[in-house]
This record gives sequence, C-alpha cells and structure tokens, in this order.
Amino acid sequence: MKTIHIGILGLGTVGGGVVRLLQENGPMIDARLGARLLVKRIARRRPDAPTPVAVDPALVTVDPMDVIRDPAIQIVVELIGGTEEARRYALEALKAGKHLVTANKALLATHGLEISRAAAERKVDVGFEAAVCGGIPIIRVLRDGLVANRIRSLLGIINGTANYILTKMTEQGRPFTEVLAEAQAKGYAEADPTLDVGGHDAAHKLQILASIAYNTFIGLPQVPVEGIAGIEPADIRYARELGYVVKLLAIAKHTDGELEVRVSPTLIPEDHLLASVRGVFNGVYLVADAAGPQMFYGRGAGQMPTASAVVSDIVEIAANILAKRPSRRATLHLPGVQGELALKPLEEIRTRYYLRVMVADKPGVLSKVAGVLGNHNVSIASVIQKARHEQEAVPIVMMTHEAREGDLRAALAGIDRLDVVSAKTICLRVEES
Ligand SMILES: NC(=O)c1ccc[n+]([C@@H]2O[C@H](COP(=O)([O-])OP(=O)(O)OC[C@H]3O[C@@H](n4cnc5c(N)ncnc54)[C@H](OP(=O)(O)O)[C@@H]3O)[C@@H](O)[C@H]2O)c1
Repeated sequence: MKTIHIGILGLGTVGGGVVRLLQENGPMIDARLGARLLVKRIARRRPDAPTPVAVDPALVTVDPMDVIRDPAIQIVVELIGGTEEARRYALEALKAGKHLVTANKALLATHGLEISRAAAERKVDVGFEAAVCGGIPIIRVLRDGLVANRIRSLLGIINGTANYILTKMTEQGRPFTEVLAEAQAKGYAEADPTLDVGGHDAAHKLQILASIAYNTFIGLPQVPVEGIAGIEPADIRYARELGYVVKLLAIAKHTDGELEVRVSPTLIPEDHLLASVRGVFNGVYLVADAAGPQMFYGRGAGQMPTASAVVSDIVEIAANILAKRPSRRATLHLPGVQGELALKPLEEIRTRYYLRVMVADKPGVLSKVAGVLGNHNVSIASVIQKARHEQEAVPIVMMTHEAREGDLRAALAGIDRLDVVSAKTICLRVEES
C-alpha cells in the first residue's frame, strides 16, 4: 500500500480532532482510499503544552516551515487560525508545491483570491470543506453533487451561536442580552461575540458558498450584513402570531440575471424546513434547477464534525495524487458556465417586510402610516394593532406585500419623521421561498 504523507499546522481543537479521527478510523479510511495516510509532522506554538490527543513528541515542531519544507509531505493542513500567519504559511505551502487543506473561513474571506491564484499557478489543490458548516459536506454538494445544476437560491442558517440565541429567545421569551450572557457562560459564544451575533461570520461563509454556487468571486465588503443584537422578544412574538419564526439567514439568489447576497435576521414561515433548525445546528436549504429543493442539516462546528470535513478533503486530494490527476476545480473563483454575475444593489431587491411602528394611540394614526407607505409604492398585506395602554406608545405590526427595498427604506424614513411615531421603526425582511 502506498503512503501519502501529511503535515499539520496547529494541534488545537480541530488539529487534535483530525489526528484523533485518523487514529481511530485510520484503517477504514486507508481501505477506502487504497493508500495509507500518515501524519509526518505537526507544528504547534507550545511544544510542551498538553495535547488534546496522544501524539509522538518526535513529530512536533514549533516552526511551521519545518512541516512545509519536509520533502515527503504532499498535503499541508492549516489549522492555526487567524489571517496573517495563516496566510503566510498557506502561501509558503502552495509555493513549495504542496496541496493545502484549511478550515479557516476568515483566511479565505480575506485572502481567498490570492490563495486560489497561488494554487492555480502551482497546479495544486486547496480543500476548504471545513470552513463552512462544519460537518455538513456542503462545498462538495455544490461543487460535485449539484455540478449539473444552476443554483436558483441558497438560504443558510450558518452561524450556530446566533441560531442558539434566537432559538432560546423564541422558545423562552427571553431578551437578547440575557441569552447571550448564558451562551457565553456555556461556551457557545465567544467572549467577544461580535463576529457571530453581528452576522460577520455568516457573511464569511456566505461569501465562500455563493462564490462556488454562482462561479462568481464575491468580495466580503459586497455582502450586506445585519446582526441579531436589535431583535426584541416582542418581534419574535408578533412574528409567531403571523405564522413566522426569526432566523439569522445568509441568502444568495439568482434573480433577473443578477445575484443577490445578504445576511440579516429574517422571518421565515414556521413550516419552512429551516424553521426546524434549532440551537447550535446549521441548515442550508437550496433550490437547484434540475435537482429541485434540497435541505442539508448538521453540526456547524465542534472538534469532530470539523475534523470529519478536514479529513474528507485530505482523502479527496490524496486520491487525486494517487491517480496522478492534476488539481481539480479547487479555487474559489471559477469563471464558468454562469459567468460573472453582477451583484444586485441592496436597494433593488424585492421582498416582503415585517414592520413594527411605535405610535401614539390616537385616531387616524394607522392611515397616516399607511399613507406614507402608499406614497412609496409599498402596500400592506396584514396588520396587527395591539391593545391600548393609557399614555403609552402602542405597536402597529404590519406585513407588506413584495416591495423594492429602496422604496421601503424611503418610506421608513418618512414614517419615522411623523410626529405620532415615538421610536425608530423595526423592519425585518421576510423570505417565503
Ligand atoms: N473549533 C471549531 O469548532 C472550528 C470549526 C470550524 C472551523 N474552525 C477553524 O479551524 C481553525 C483552527 O481552530 P481551532 O479551534 O482548532 O483553534 P485552536 O484550538 O486555537 O488551535 C490552534 C492551534 O494552532 C497552533 N498555532 C497557532 N499559531 C501558531 C503558529 N504560529 N505556529 C504553530 N502553531 C500555531 C496552536 O498552538 P498551541 O497548541 O501551542 O497553542 C494550536 O495548536 C480556525 O481557522 C477556525 O476558524 C474551527
């Protein structure tokens, strides 16, 4: 049996998981591959710190270049995280003609194009299945399983922390700050939760998914992002009364020859498949032109789910090495069948909206609000008007028909200027498909 030598940079949560998976399932994986996968060297910063899994100390070095320069190693696995050092070692590995596997979505979101070009130049592969949705093999689904399809739309719950918080807020009626503090105490949220609750982590992953699904490189600044910090239990409650749940959705859609991408808290019907994705789980619902609707569900992070995705990339690349196949379509940027799609400006998208307008409880207020909406071509589909509270502002909750985002934003500015409106209007997009 031939041996394929692997070098691993990083022996933390994911690096430890990869080594453990190769130890525990090694014989089965080797049999499936038809060759032996051997971890030849591992780099970590603190060689004497406890290891998450038993490893031969002779394999460990503090210098990632020892791994990269080892002539026997054909696949370098970057699991150190961050963007600057990871970029440097990823490029060094590619320059040395090694195939690269990474779980680092931040690296791909910031330096993906440079890494793709370096890989193409050296005719080596880059595997990044673990960078999006942890254990769900969604990259391979888009790249291989659905290769014959145009993707009409892709909706994803791709940040477990945000989904955990929204699930708790929905099921227990608790406010955002309280649930976030609990998630931090349980280790589900980082001490600095900005990337997760601000929607930026989901934007990193959407950028990768949409770039592959639509053969169009999408820069991170091109993805409009809204987080969940402004969501209040009242909006979750009203959404439920209307038959919807609130989820942090990453959306990519092909409409009218253009591509829509965005991350925002969004109402989806309570019977939508994604509505059942609870807690830290991830889900991706997509509609492919030939295969039709598809749903993928699983753990989006964690040691062994992520290790599963990393090892799947290692095995795929190893199989290509054995078959002496040149690098495949590894890059993020694939000028292809659909060509370069122009991104639709956010103000041009058309969707339905949920609005909560806080107003003085006086006669004629609803018609004033409706008048402003009407003046901007936004029509109302349904209204819930809540019970009166003496002297207090009351909410008018509305669902609009489909409207142009630019018109809706102009209407909101007008509504918030009305003297009967007491607070900034809450506006959430609604996704029916
Ligand atoms: N954790 C997850 O569930 C998950 C899920 C999906 C993707 N990811 C991605 O996977 C990557 C790794 O995450 P992780 O959670 O495994 O991180 P981690 O537990 O912090 O492990 C990082 C490892 O890299 C080593 N390291 C850092 N800088 C180094 C350097 N300059 N030279 C050599 N070694 C260095 C550390 O060494 P020491 O051991 O000596 O500290 C540690 O072993 C990240 O890009 C992350 O975004 C993680």
